[in-house]
Amino acid sequence: MATLQIRGPVRLSGELTVHGAKNSTLPLMAAALLCEEESVLHNCPKLSDVDVSTRILRRLGCKVERQGASLRIDPRPADDWEIPDTLMREMRSSIVFLGAILSKMGKAVMSFPGGCELGPRPIDLHLKALRRLGVEICEDYGCLTCTVPGKVKGASVNLSFPSVGATENILLAAARAEGITVISNAAREPEICDLANFLNACGAKISGAGGSTIVIQGVEKLHGCQHKVIADRITTATYLSAAAITGGNILLHGTEPEHLLPVLPVFEECGCTLETSGDMVWLKAPRRLSRVRSIRTMPYPGFPTDAQPPVMAMLTLASGTSIFVENMFENRYKHVGELLRLGANIKVEGRVAVVEGTSRLTGASVEAADLRGGAALVVAGLAAHGVTTVSGVRHIDRGYESIEKNLSILGADVSRVFS
Ligand code: UD1
Repeated sequence: MATLQIRGPVRLSGELTVHGAKNSTLPLMAAALLCEEESVLHNCPKLSDVDVSTRILRRLGCKVERQGASLRIDPRPADDWEIPDTLMREMRSSIVFLGAILSKMGKAVMSFPGGCELGPRPIDLHLKALRRLGVEICEDYGCLTCTVPGKVKGASVNLSFPSVGATENILLAAARAEGITVISNAAREPEICDLANFLNACGAKISGAGGSTIVIQGVEKLHGCQHKVIADRITTATYLSAAAITGGNILLHGTEPEHLLPVLPVFEECGCTLETSGDMVWLKAPRRLSRVRSIRTMPYPGFPTDAQPPVMAMLTLASGTSIFVENMFENRYKHVGELLRLGANIKVEGRVAVVEGTSRLTGASVEAADLRGGAALVVAGLAAHGVTTVSGVRHIDRGYESIEKNLSILGADVSRVFS
């Protein structure tokens, strides 16, 4: 079992290139299944979630090869429509393959994703939308058996909440449907635009992605294409949090500053100097951060729930009190108990967390219970005095490529220890 051992405090400085977005890569891999030809996805991060998606595609019969940061996906040999329970359990977001498999094969079988580290993870919006598109779905014994009589049919779908995964599943199911699909109250995340851009480059007719109404005119066939995955905005926010808590000065390359608009004001409010240019973000932190009045997680363009844990870790050492309101997931404060072990002063009541800034954190053994919560512990560990040992590293590896190497490039004393 691996742990991350972090000796702090350090002041991060230097330059780093941020990898491609995990949350774009997964739906893009599902989209490649829909095509009649090979596609190549560039800027694909080396992450365990991407490995699981690779195994799913191979299981369905696709040929998938990695060359550096590029994934070559040939969907022509695909002939299966079932995702085994083991793969569904490894990555709850495998549900994003449902729309693509249905469109390609006319049927799909997979287990119900069920609950996850962030609390219950319902897929009612996905299923309701797919039913609107003519899919017949049987939910029995934890298993979803779906069939499409004839072809997927375009329809108007109104999402009661702008779910990212449901919007992606509808895009994937509707791209080759008969007729026109209109999604109202669609998710507006940059990853939705990336998916629509890929599909359009393959011949789809999708307009309005990035806004609340997306119109998809179904096409007969999609060819393949070459596509560069957008930058990972959450990884970027995590490295910025790490630099800020350590009073650091870092320059990140390969980022998409526009996608960071919901998070950059938070760094400015706590006293950091920021500059963006092209694909670069530069952050210089003050000796001590100030508190941030309140952070409410919301669908894009609101503050992203995935950035809440690392930013909370950052604010544990700020002067003053910061308030968080988590509106997206029920169980997204699991990192709080572990941050307390490092000396943080945080109180949670329901959706609200009150972070009373303290002047010193001290190293301790802590355990990552989920991906972004794990990143929060690493952020705090960089500024804590002494050694912080973070277990549950497999969660962190789902979303951060070589986190210990990247932090070391910025001057951190972090190593991966196997026992
Ligand atoms: C995606 C991201 C995840 C991020 C989340 C919110 C991927 C692989 N994951 O997850 O990192 O934290 O967006 O930005 O892209 N909901 C329902 N019924 C549904 C679907 C969702 O009630 O059918 C609820 C969820 O429980 C949650 C909220 O809607 O409370 C947001 O979920 P959603 O936008 O679907 O997130 P994911 O696509 O699962």
